[in-house]
Order: sequence, then structure tokens, then C-alpha cells
Amino acid sequence: LNRSPVVAPAAIASSNQPAATLPIGIFDSGVGGLTVLRCLREQLPHESFIYLGDTARLPYGTKSADSVIRYSLQAAEFLIARGIKYLVVACNTASAVAIEAMRERFAPTPVLGVIEPGAIAGCAASRSGRLAVIATEGTVNGGAYQRAIARARPDAKVIARACSLFVALAEEGWTQGPIVEDIARRYLAEIFGAGGPDTLILGCTHFPVLIDAIRNVIGPDVAIVDSAHTTAAHLLQSLTTQGLLARNSHPTLRLLATDGPERFARVGSRFLDETFGVGDVEVVDLSAPAARLAKD
Ligand code: DGL
Repeated sequence: LNRSPVVAPAAIASSNQPAATLPIGIFDSGVGGLTVLRCLREQLPHESFIYLGDTARLPYGTKSADSVIRYSLQAAEFLIARGIKYLVVACNTASAVAIEAMRERFAPTPVLGVIEPGAIAGCAASRSGRLAVIATEGTVNGGAYQRAIARARPDAKVIARACSLFVALAEEGWTQGPIVEDIARRYLAEIFGAGGPDTLILGCTHFPVLIDAIRNVIGPDVAIVDSAHTTAAHLLQSLTTQGLLARNSHPTLRLLATDGPERFARVGSRFLDETFGVGDVEVVDLSAPAARLAKD
């Protein structure tokens, strides 16, 4: 990994560094958002990134909306204090319930979530207008995908299903084989019978690593949409129109986690599709920003 030397947040905040050269902040509940980071780095090779995984409080997907909003605001505040030009919320659950709260609290910092880009991509991929979304409980129950799809395509019919075990399987590295496919069948087989949806939106950071098993269950004809690609396209467009696109010849990547740097490195390397070690992960405490800044 190409990492910059540690720079104290106060130093960044008070520097005259042009906004375009500042890193893009990416926030997720844990390692899953590294699938989004991977895609953003591929499509925006001159951007620097600072990724924060709130591993101490993962999973968000089974927590109440109030808790997820509180956690998300803390994470966003932390990244903004480090000096970022843009915040990408890679976590679907946080995007589903906390995006408005983050935009309101941290304006004018632009905040992009993954739900809207995912919904738009799903609608574009579907011929029949029948779509399925799989996600965490929190995302499904909050209804954000259902609303975003209805905005993009008012005649769409949506089935949303929580696939909670997929998160654990992906974390465990069980991404293929009969056990994974049995579980996928249990969640998906009845949805994708005859006359079922022609498009499946992967509405969770962890699900892209399970794509082969999911594909084996739902068959070759269903379009599978992963919001990471469309999120990258939206980000590129937004950075361009706001004059924030970086031309860094040595873009940097910094990885932060709130707990378990060993696990973050081990599991995260799979999600990022690039090996990094525990020494590449900085452990941070989101609960006390004032104390943290004083210490730095
Ligand atoms: N990052 C979460 C999401 O995309 C999945 C993991 C969790 O439940 O925290 O919804």
C-alpha cells in the first residue's frame, strides 16, 4: 500500500492544501466497504483515500436506526476532522438510515451514499421492471432502496429480502461451495422462480464476494447489480462538476479501524483484493473527538 506519513488532523485542517488534492473519506461499518474502495480506486486512480471501518460496532445491519445514525455521525465527524474533500458512505445500512442526518450536519462537505446509485443502476439493468434487493435487516426494514427504486422507475415492482447470514459467511471467508449455495438457495430460490425478477441488486457491502454462489442459485439470466460501480461513476461526475477531481501523481491510501486491526487486515485483504498487514491499519477511537485532537 502506498501510504502517506501520519499527518495530525489539525495540521491538515489548517493547511492551505488545495481542496482537490485532499483525500476522499470512505466510511463503512467494517471491512465490507473495502469492496467499494477497490472499485473507487480502479476508477479514480489519482485520488487519495482515507477509509474508516467501525469494526468495534459492526454489524450495523441488525441495529436500530437511532444507533446507526449516532455511529454514522461520529464516524463522519472523525473523517471530516482529518481533512477530506468528500465523504462516501460505503455502508448500505448507514446510507439507508443516516445519509440525510450526515448531509445536514456536515454541509457543505458533499456526502454520497450507495443506495441511490445502486437503485438507478438496478432500474437501468431491468427490462421487466421487476427487481429484487438483498441487504441487511436494517436496510430492508428502512425501505430506502424501495423508495429510491420507486423514484427512478415508478412502475417497478420490488422484492426486498434481508440475507443476514451472508454477512457472516463473507466475514468468515466462506464465499463458495455447497454450504454457501444452500444458504443462498434458502434466501433466494422462491424469489427467483418463474416470472420472478430479472435484476438483483446487491444492497450490502459484503455481498459482492458471494457473487459466484448467488449466480449459481439464481441462474445466468438475472442481471446482478453491485452499486460500487455506479457509485464510482456518480463520484467521478460530482468531483468533476465541483472542480474537485485530483491529479495526484502519488495518491495515498490510509486505513483506519475502531477495533481488531489483525482481523481487519486479514479479512479486509480479501475484500480489497490486495494484501495489507496489521501495520497498515491505524486503530482510532471515535467516541472522544476533542480528546483525540488534543492528543494528536
Ligand atoms: N456494511 C453493512 C452494509 O452494507 C453490512 C455489515 C453490517 O451489518 O454492518 O449494510
